[in-house]
Amino acid sequence: MNESRIPLGPADLLTEVPRSIELDGKPYWLTQEADGTIALLLAYCPHAGGEVLLADGDFYCPLHYWTFDGRSGECTNRGDERLMRRNVELADGQLYACGPDY
Ligand code: FES
Repeated sequence: MNESRIPLGPADLLTEVPRSIELDGKPYWLTQEADGTIALLLAYCPHAGGEVLLADGDFYCPLHYWTFDGRSGECTNRGDERLMRRNVELADGQLYACGPDY
């Protein structure tokens, strides 16, 4: 098995997303975009590292109120910013985190 492929759990986790998941001691949000793409979004704000929280299906940072799309992690009030993400693969009914955050 590829060392960068980390099991997350069954595909049933996608029935309610965004879903909070801890991986490597860090908080993430498991998401699925409209086109079916599954990803983990790192729940640390790209501004100054505040922990990004969920409200009404989207994310916000309580430190200075940057806001982020609940599916893509794109910042919705600060230009080109976005949450870091990690790819997720679905294989044999199981979800796997793949590769590094980017
Ligand atoms: S640290 Fe998140 S908006 Fe400033």
